[in-house]
Amino acid sequence: MRDDTMTATWEPTAGCGALSDADAAAGREVVLAGWVHRHRDLGGLLFLELRDGTGRVQVVFDPSEAPEAHAQAQGLHLEDVVGVRGRVVPRQAPHREHPTGSLEVRAQALQIHARATHVPFAVSDEATASEETRLSYRYVDLRRAPLQRALRLRHRLARAAREVLDAAGFVEVETPILTRSTPEGARDYLVPSRTHPGRFYALPQSPQLFKQLLMIAGFGRYYQFARCFRDEDLRADRQPEFTQIDLEMAFARPETIYGIVERVVAAMARVAGVPLEGPFPRLSYAEAMARYGTDRPDTRFGMELHDVSAAAQDSGFRVFERALAQEQGAVVGFTVPGGADVSRTVTERWAAWAREAGAEGLVWVLWSAPGEVRASLPRHLLPGLGVRLAEAAGAQVGDAVLLVAGPRPAAASAAGALRCRIAEERGLVSAGQWSALWVERFPLFEWEAQEQRWVSRHHPFTAPVWEQLHRLERDPAGVEAQAYDLVLNGVEIGGGSIRIHRREVQERVFRVLRLGEEEAHEKFGFLLRALDSGAPPHGGIALGFDRLCALFAGTPSIRDVIAFPKTTSASCLMTGAPAPVEPAQLAVLQLRVAPSEPGDR
Ligand code: AMO
Repeated sequence: MRDDTMTATWEPTAGCGALSDADAAAGREVVLAGWVHRHRDLGGLLFLELRDGTGRVQVVFDPSEAPEAHAQAQGLHLEDVVGVRGRVVPRQAPHREHPTGSLEVRAQALQIHARATHVPFAVSDEATASEETRLSYRYVDLRRAPLQRALRLRHRLARAAREVLDAAGFVEVETPILTRSTPEGARDYLVPSRTHPGRFYALPQSPQLFKQLLMIAGFGRYYQFARCFRDEDLRADRQPEFTQIDLEMAFARPETIYGIVERVVAAMARVAGVPLEGPFPRLSYAEAMARYGTDRPDTRFGMELHDVSAAAQDSGFRVFERALAQEQGAVVGFTVPGGADVSRTVTERWAAWAREAGAEGLVWVLWSAPGEVRASLPRHLLPGLGVRLAEAAGAQVGDAVLLVAGPRPAAASAAGALRCRIAEERGLVSAGQWSALWVERFPLFEWEAQEQRWVSRHHPFTAPVWEQLHRLERDPAGVEAQAYDLVLNGVEIGGGSIRIHRREVQERVFRVLRLGEEEAHEKFGFLLRALDSGAPPHGGIALGFDRLCALFAGTPSIRDVIAFPKTTSASCLMTGAPAPVEPAQLAVLQLRVAPSEPGDR
């Protein structure tokens, strides 16, 4: 058969990576189809490694057995797409580390489906090309085994989550993509309307309001693998479009929602071979901030924060005294076990990290022996002050203590970030360690200093702790939300809340947020009217599915578990999106692109 003749495709009867020793023992006749992964012509015998979605296998072309196939195979190149008819046999020199290394396929016939004339980089397990090149040719990148594994894992994780939710009586309902703005704190992606010139749809930042409306509509348990769109600054764990496992329940208490989510996460963990079972521990927001300096604490290692303000008070050290004199002033720090013997280079690096995390500076105390302290403190205060601070931070002889002074939230946040970097540097987290926890009792509002107004910490539909409702207007800062986040290994993988199901409460919250009555009606009139129609108490959560997949796949970036991700500047290097459009298309929408002014973005 000539390779320029199109004939009916041979359909594969087996997967390359799925062949077994039993197939080899039986001399099974198979048809395989896939890509040429490796090509070695030894003059006599010719070896191909053939790759498909299941793995790879060695195929041997012997001119004495199949002269025509052998001749055709000589002209093959890497990434050509071929079909092979042959017989599975045991391999004479087995390759034990390769999954199909104990067998090979003796080719009888070859069908050439397509020539690969442009292969921008080698399809190898390790990424050899830059990420930019790989994203530009994502369809080639996706052929690599780690990405094949990651996306196949993603599929199985989705299925596991669906099974749990389905068994618990949740109904999957799709909600609109062309909709109105749903406030989740990011900018909206807008879509201009042709039929209503000058008007815009917003792509949903989440299906938040629709899922609440589904509760009001009588679907007591809803879920959806929901695509969400947020125009925000991107990082390794943020994409402009991402997927949530979004769910909502009527007549549910937070504990019921925790239980469902714990089952979903545990089922996914089982698929990934990760030991993670509920119930997950719970921590209040206040405690998380005090002990870890963050609302997404990584509890896989110790080094918890301590407030050593009392020991730093009247210490004679100006840095501390100045910090403690300001409002909410504090000295916060933690112990690095066994860290007393680090070098100057290390303390300098730690200080640089502390500054990157927002600290003005770092005070380090190295408690090397009883009564012996090296520290970035004035010499005349040593060893006394050093030992006092070290003891207050829970240190022992042999440890290092790192301290940040400043307004408490900022100091704790910088110390918390430093804690994580040092844990990583010192290898305190091993790959097999997993830790999930709930953070709850968040403040309902946050003060937005620039705009001089209260904003919702979660979103404006989150219910306050009912017992605190009476002080909503009087003391917004002191009202807690019935909101909760799920944190896995220091990553926020979910957030949700009990919602407001009474119109008058929702209107009061809008007023605290300084959303005028007119604006509230214009934007959320449909929700307020729905609350008037008989709304059950309800609550829910959304899990960041991409983040869960990345954690379970053991990869640091969610781009590795998304088939066609965007870059950190929100573009798709493969399709060239976002792209200019034809003037005629703009004309239909009655839009014109204004020349940009400096500072427009
Ligand atoms: P929230 O905004 O906390 O809640 O989002 C829920 C979870 O989605 C993930 N996530 C992201 N993942 C990737 N890229 C992003 N840009 C991104 N933004 C968020 C996080 C986060 O925990 N409607 C509410 C949920 C509710 O109240 O039920 C919501 O969307 O893992």
